[in-house]
Amino acid sequence: MPNTIIVGAQWGDEGKGKIVDYLTESSDIIVRAQGGNNAGHTVIHGDQKYILHLIPSGILWPEKKCVIGNGVVIDPVSLLEEFDTLEKQGISISPENLAISDRAHLTLPYHRSLDSHRESGLGGKKIGTTGRGIGPTYIDKVERSGIRMADLEDQDFLEARLAEKINQANLVMRDADTKPLELATIKEELNSAYQRLAPFIRETTSFLHRQIAEGKSLLFEGAQGTYLDIDHGTYPFVTSSSTTAGGACTGSGVSPRAIDNVTAVAKAYTTRVGAGPFVTENAEFSDRMHGMGREFGATTGRKRRCGWFDAVVTGHGCRLNGADHLALTNLDGLDGIETIKICTAYRLKGETLSTPPSRVESWEDCEPVYEELPGWPDTPTAGAQDISSLPDNAKAYLDRLDDLCECPVKLVGVGPDRKETLIRN
Ligand code: GDP
Ligand code: IMO
Ligand code: MG
Repeated sequence: MPNTIIVGAQWGDEGKGKIVDYLTESSDIIVRAQGGNNAGHTVIHGDQKYILHLIPSGILWPEKKCVIGNGVVIDPVSLLEEFDTLEKQGISISPENLAISDRAHLTLPYHRSLDSHRESGLGGKKIGTTGRGIGPTYIDKVERSGIRMADLEDQDFLEARLAEKINQANLVMRDADTKPLELATIKEELNSAYQRLAPFIRETTSFLHRQIAEGKSLLFEGAQGTYLDIDHGTYPFVTSSSTTAGGACTGSGVSPRAIDNVTAVAKAYTTRVGAGPFVTENAEFSDRMHGMGREFGATTGRKRRCGWFDAVVTGHGCRLNGADHLALTNLDGLDGIETIKICTAYRLKGETLSTPPSRVESWEDCEPVYEELPGWPDTPTAGAQDISSLPDNAKAYLDRLDDLCECPVKLVGVGPDRKETLIRN
């Protein structure tokens, strides 16, 4: 059975949750391998809407198993809130259907405080983080001073490590207008979360290896997107994890040799939330989307910045991820538009670029080179039942994206529901 990585090819929010949900039916284990509760994955099942932050979207399927891998950073309080929200929506969560890696690092209150503190210190150069403490948690991981799930059983270690980290954080924030963080409160909150989480914590890598050996099918649910990747993104306007396909392997302990497919998810246009370069950003297009009630962040509710499809970004993204094909969501977002633009290259200081520049200052100076295609203003794609019923101009748009991205569009989203996914051969 194939093992598939789902990865965002743009700046996150491409519709990964919906595509994972669509592919879950033919998978056995759904794995998150990086990021944390900065992610917000929307899944619509019938008339119910679910937003997943840390728990793989597969949890909505009772017979599937889910794993939160070693590469994920976990805010235990937020994870338990997610348990409660999902349970209220009728979803059962137990160690039978969810395992949490004992090697995953914890996001704690001082990480969230440091995240906000750092952002306020950046003034006009804010990254526009989700404020969930993701960056500071990965800093501790890389600095080798983090706390991992497995550490929660060792009270002496925990007390000493928490005291050290809280003192450091209070020192960094000594001039800020906030109350110092208290060891006793944080420790109590953490211990109480541990009581509930302990049965879920286990060594997940050998579990995954056994599943592969038994011929089970793994589906990796990427979080964020290629251009938020710590190495390949619009650095420093990125998140702190490896959001590209390789991150699925390091973040789960599954070898690259076990991967059969990579599906890159992209919107039929482009969105970005938070600061940073965005060559095809377009104010009129953004207003149109927001006016239709589209493109508000699933985690923070912020308005997403919107613009035309950027084939420089998505094409290079497909190559970075080794994508076998693209899942193109939100084609219906282009319904009603007379003329559609696609960015095919960047112009920078008289040169034409077909791949993104490395420095953010250069990204910001890039001008889009556009190609214009006729839209389908009179025939909506929304609700289309199959590929053949799409308007001809929509079909031509998909053909053009295949060529520009050098990657075939195989799945096409024409609505938020899983059922509104068309297969294209
Ligand atoms: P993710 O973070 O990649 O899972 O994406 P988000 O859930 O943050 O944002 C994607 C948004 O697009 C959500 O509101 C989805 O319900 C919605 N969506 C996904 N695919 C489609 C589609 O094909 N058409 C429409 N109209 N909405 C879609
Ligand atoms: P999903 O999985 C869109 C963005 C933030 C900010 C930058 C750094 O739903 O696609 P962080 O809190 O991670 O330090 O913020 O990354 N960001 C996302 N944007 N979708 C996401 O996740 C994101 N996760 C982080 O807006 O620009
Ligand atoms: Mg999202």
